Amino acid sequence: MVMERAYTFPLLILLACCVTASMANNMNISTDESALLAFKSRMISTIDPANILIKNWSASTPVCVWIGVTCGLRHQRVTALDISSMNLSGNIPSLLGNLSFLVSLNLSRNYFYGSLPRELIQLRRLQIINFRFNSFSGQIPSWFGFLHNLQILNLRNNNFTGFIPPSLSNISTLQTLDLSYNPIQGKIPEEIGNLHNLKTLYLQYNRLTGLIPLTIFNISTLEHLGFTGNNLSGNLPVDICHGLPRLKGLYLSSNELDGEIPSNISECSQLQHLSLSVNKFRGSIPSEIGSIRTLQILYLDSNDLSGS
Ligand SMILES: *[C@@H]1O[C@H](CO)[C@@H](O)[C@H](O)[C@H]1NC(C)=O
Ligand SMILES: *[C@@H]1O[C@H](CO)[C@@H](O)[C@H](O)[C@H]1NC(C)=O
Ligand SMILES: *[C@@H]1O[C@H](CO)[C@@H](O)[C@H](O)[C@H]1NC(C)=O
Ligand SMILES: *[C@@H]1O[C@H](CO)[C@@H](O)[C@H](O)[C@H]1NC(C)=O
Ligand SMILES: *[C@@H]1O[C@H](CO)[C@@H](O)[C@H](O)[C@H]1NC(C)=O
Ligand SMILES: *[C@@H]1O[C@H](CO)[C@@H](O)[C@H](O)[C@H]1NC(C)=O
Ligand SMILES: *[C@@H]1O[C@H](CO)[C@@H](O)[C@H](O)[C@H]1NC(C)=O
Ligand SMILES: *[C@@H]1O[C@H](CO)[C@@H](O)[C@H](O)[C@H]1NC(C)=O
Ligand SMILES: *[C@@H]1O[C@H](CO)[C@@H](O)[C@H](O)[C@H]1NC(C)=O
Ligand SMILES: *[C@@H]1O[C@H](CO)[C@@H](O)[C@H](O)[C@H]1NC(C)=O
Repeated sequence: MVMERAYTFPLLILLACCVTASMANNMNISTDESALLAFKSRMISTIDPANILIKNWSASTPVCVWIGVTCGLRHQRVTALDISSMNLSGNIPSLLGNLSFLVSLNLSRNYFYGSLPRELIQLRRLQIINFRFNSFSGQIPSWFGFLHNLQILNLRNNNFTGFIPPSLSNISTLQTLDLSYNPIQGKIPEEIGNLHNLKTLYLQYNRLTGLIPLTIFNISTLEHLGFTGNNLSGNLPVDICHGLPRLKGLYLSSNELDGEIPSNISECSQLQHLSLSVNKFRGSIPSEIGSIRTLQILYLDSNDLSGS
């Protein structure tokens, strides 16, 4: 509490978290059943009116045997929900925020839409959110910043708008952040550089502008960095690889980047994919690139490069 108060949270959020904590004791598998039945009541099958899952989620059998549902052995509560690739449409009810033991939520490759209910903030045990390939919209919620156990946040191929909330930088456990293929605007927040466990940062094909924050080149755990298809400008740092010893893929094509390609790129000794095409890079191609033994793919076309 002392910590949280120091952040000057809005009072409502503070109340919400305390109320949630005290309510958690009164919750059991019946709570999970109500939450999932509420979710089911909003689901529509996009191909078959008698969808196998919609038929299966019935109060006549225990929740823990329902298709896509996994329960924990200790508490007999729902710990994972994986209903990916089920051709389902619908939106998410606030009741889903009552699945208080949920660790993994995988709704990927469906047709779910609408904005994400704020009640999902109560899912403090969540480690995996996989919503890729759906039609969710609205702002990327800043309350994701409260999910302090999240390791994977994948919102790829949705319809999220607005800016990248700086609060995402509070999720220090985050290893994968994939917001690619959304119409997100604005600058990449400097605070993203605080994510010191991040291995994958994918922001491709959004509408991002401005400079790439230097703090990102200091996340020493990074292996995959993808910003292709935005409108990012500025130079690459001369010591680009100094803080990125584990980098395997650097994807920066189709932006407005300029300046020279730093010879320092050869210090990324594990680099496999380097993609810098369709930018405004100038000067000669550094010969040091030839000494990256791991390199498999190199794209440099459509720049203002000269020499051999
Ligand atoms: C869950 O708790 C409610 C009351 O809080 C109780 O009526 C119900 O029987 C419980 N269900 C199970 C499966 O324990
Ligand atoms: C749902 O599927 C599970 C596992 O396939 C099965 O055990 C259960 O009986 C099914 N429930 C209904 C209502 O069809
Ligand atoms: C989803 O729809 C596709 C295309 O209509 C179909 O091939 C696939 O089998 C469906 N999957 C499920 C789980 O119903
Ligand atoms: C579940 O969540 C809803 C809405 O967020 C709330 O009204 C309800 O009281 C919660 N608790 C239970 C036990 O379902
Ligand atoms: C659900 O998501 C998890 C984590 O991203 C992934 O490991 C798993 O393979 C996914 N399940 C399916 C069926 O795609
Ligand atoms: C995304 O949102 C825009 C504007 O609200 C809408 O026109 C478009 O159809 C949406 N696209 C998808 C894939 O949902
Ligand atoms: C997250 O960090 C920001 C500063 O980057 C801070 O203002 C905010 O209160 C923190 N907490 C959340 C949940 O956003
Ligand atoms: C990167 O990290 C080094 C050492 O930890 C620090 O001295 C430097 O100021 C950092 N640079 C940026 C741009 O954050
Ligand atoms: C990209 O940014 C440049 C300025 O840096 C601007 O002139 C251009 O119109 C922008 N392009 C798009 C597609 O937003
Ligand atoms: C790359 O940058 C580091 C740190 O600034 C430096 O020690 C190293 O010599 C540079 N290497 C090349 C090939 O430029």
